[in-house]
Amino acid sequence: METVVSGIRSTGHLHLGNYFGALRNFVAIQEQYNCYFFIADLHSLTTHPKPGDFHASVKTILAEYLAAGLDPEKSTIFVQSDVPEISELYVLLNMLAYKGELERTASFKDKVRKNPENVNAGLLTYPVLMASDILMHRANWVPVGKDQEQHLEIARVLARRFNNLYNEEVFPEPKALVFGKNLVKVPGLDGSGKMGKSEGNGIYLFEDDKAITKKVMKAVTDSGPTEPNSEKPEVIQNLFTLLSLVSTPDTVQYFDEKWNDCSIRYGDLKKQLAADICECVRPIRERIDAIYQDEDYLNRVTRMGCEKARESAAATLKLARKAVGFSR
Ligand code: TYM
Repeated sequence: METVVSGIRSTGHLHLGNYFGALRNFVAIQEQYNCYFFIADLHSLTTHPKPGDFHASVKTILAEYLAAGLDPEKSTIFVQSDVPEISELYVLLNMLAYKGELERTASFKDKVRKNPENVNAGLLTYPVLMASDILMHRANWVPVGKDQEQHLEIARVLARRFNNLYNEEVFPEPKALVFGKNLVKVPGLDGSGKMGKSEGNGIYLFEDDKAITKKVMKAVTDSGPTEPNSEKPEVIQNLFTLLSLVSTPDTVQYFDEKWNDCSIRYGDLKKQLAADICECVRPIRERIDAIYQDEDYLNRVTRMGCEKARESAAATLKLARKAVGFSR
């Protein structure tokens, strides 16, 4: 059986971008692959969160993960820092990652621009830690959104470099697990690029109908089409992209026709979009609370996940250490 690895940072709450970019796909594949899904708490250390907030953040993401449909009986669900083998592999891979290539990654450049006062080495080597997460379980596939494509390419480069340097096929080259034609990029409601935690433009899985509807009704639009069959500007295309994720094809076609003959009313489009997002989020939200309260269950899930993840990690690390020449 082929192996899948994916993770989500342990900050804030899960939003529709996480759900449609990654989570929904995790749920769909857990029957067919050997799956490892984890909460990336080491990655979140780049921004120096308060120690007192740490446990609650991990617990929140874990409860939301499970509420979205991940099944600990079918998949290995664990917390990244519970698996110290990842940090050892990170050291080995760091020796193969070059400063220039890390500095060129879009996410690093973006973080440097936004937080010039906190350009730490962990931020620079963020993709190496991601590669360690993925290669740790010798993954064949990684379900990610468009935003992680470049990081995945680095994981492939490092796998290849390791195998070549040590002349052993320790790591398969992990590929993006794509659903549909392309990797998904879920847009925000502010008319700009992607929905994200740090962008402050998200719709979160814990939010109720009222909060979601309010956000959607406030989404940025323009003054409307003036020519039949014209191309949609980005702000409008974003609403259609969201609609195509949560609504039926008939609904999308209906509003497309309205756009094409210039009779579209953005208020109607937003009302429909809000109703369909609420429909999609409601059952997940309703499960979050109960799962969050069940401390015993959450502890059981992470204990079981840690055990399974460490078993797989130890086996890979043994191969990697042998390839490097450590074993006597
Ligand atoms: P994170 O926590 O930012 O996002 C988790 C997952 O959600 C996807 N995603 C999106 N997909 C489409 N449109 C969006 N607007 C959107 N926003 C988020 C991301 O592609 C990701 O799949 N560094 C990673 C976590 C990580 C990881 C890994 C992922 C650590 N190690 C190993 C995969 C494999 C991150 O910050 O994701």
